[in-house]
Amino acid sequence: MSAPNKSYDPVEVEALKPEEIARRRDEALAAIAAAGDLEALREVKVAHTGDRSPLALANREIGALPPHAKADAGKRVGQARGQVNQALKARQEELEAERDARVLVEEAVDVTLPYDRTPAGARHPITTLSERIEDVFVAMGYEVAEGPEVEAEWFNFDALNFPPDHPAREMQDTFFVQGAEEGETSGVVLRTHTSPVQIRSMIDRKPPIYVICPGRTFRTDELDATHTPVFHQVELLAIDEGLTMADLKGTLDHMVRALFGEGMSTRLRPNFFPFTEPSAEMDMLCYVCRGESVGNPDRPCRTCSSEGWIELGGCGMVNPRVLIACGLDPEKYSGFAFGFGIERMLMFRHNVEDMRDMVEGDVRFTRPFGMEI
Ligand code: DAH
Repeated sequence: MSAPNKSYDPVEVEALKPEEIARRRDEALAAIAAAGDLEALREVKVAHTGDRSPLALANREIGALPPHAKADAGKRVGQARGQVNQALKARQEELEAERDARVLVEEAVDVTLPYDRTPAGARHPITTLSERIEDVFVAMGYEVAEGPEVEAEWFNFDALNFPPDHPAREMQDTFFVQGAEEGETSGVVLRTHTSPVQIRSMIDRKPPIYVICPGRTFRTDELDATHTPVFHQVELLAIDEGLTMADLKGTLDHMVRALFGEGMSTRLRPNFFPFTEPSAEMDMLCYVCRGESVGNPDRPCRTCSSEGWIELGGCGMVNPRVLIACGLDPEKYSGFAFGFGIERMLMFRHNVEDMRDMVEGDVRFTRPFGMEI
């Protein structure tokens, strides 16, 4: 560094020679022009305008010059630094504009693209329909009851008054999970119907009992257009004092009206189930032709095959032997029950022709049903 010196001439200070100032300035300008992005420019700025930059160092030499030389040298360095700052500013603006333009392109949002590229699934109509049926009964004060799908044979058969040699227990109907152990009478099965939930409800609850029991059931059927080994049923059980078959009939009529509309009704045909006595098969009026296709070849009905009635399921008055098996006094309590398949109801309610459609899980089948049926 130079010390004060009267005869000091700026040209003799290397750093302050005009060509040296110009060189330092041009070096800075070249670096600025070469900076390809804002980050690089920031580094160039520190290197060429910072405290330790070549031009700042030259500036410091000015103080050591004799007064007459200071103005000249100061002007030269000042001009060079001004040019560098200007070039910096201009390049900064240029690079910012470039960045902004790039961001606009890269982060552009195309508002015309479909907003949701992942197609939504849909609830299965079996679920929606069974909830709809539950709702009809919950509105009347029934409770929803559930039981296990892997069930003790005792609940599935014995307590329901199936004799030990009843054909429904046979291998061709029932999936056996486990045979009866030595000295035990009851093995484990996949429940073949929802009726064991009746037994569980009578054991778990105190009368009056009003329950609706939806659930999955299993039988050893091959999957085809009209059979599936895994299907769904809804079971109903009412236990109270003084219940009669008239209450059963009224309940059934109310259900079909709630599900299929005013003017609907049901009819009962004698049948046999071990757990109800008397037992009946229940049919509902065909909700499409309302019976008008019967004996009327000009107006055939595909839904009921012109029979006027559609078979729904089984029902009856709870057999006293079942009440006794559940610890209830048949002298005091009576009850009615019914059970039917949901797949079947879905088939005639929505003209589903092939049961396999309900099993395969193809969203093209489920979606048209929407959220409500
Ligand atoms: N559990 C019977 C079946 O799966 C249906 C049934 C019949 C249920 C009569 C009932 C009833 O509650 O009372 O075939």
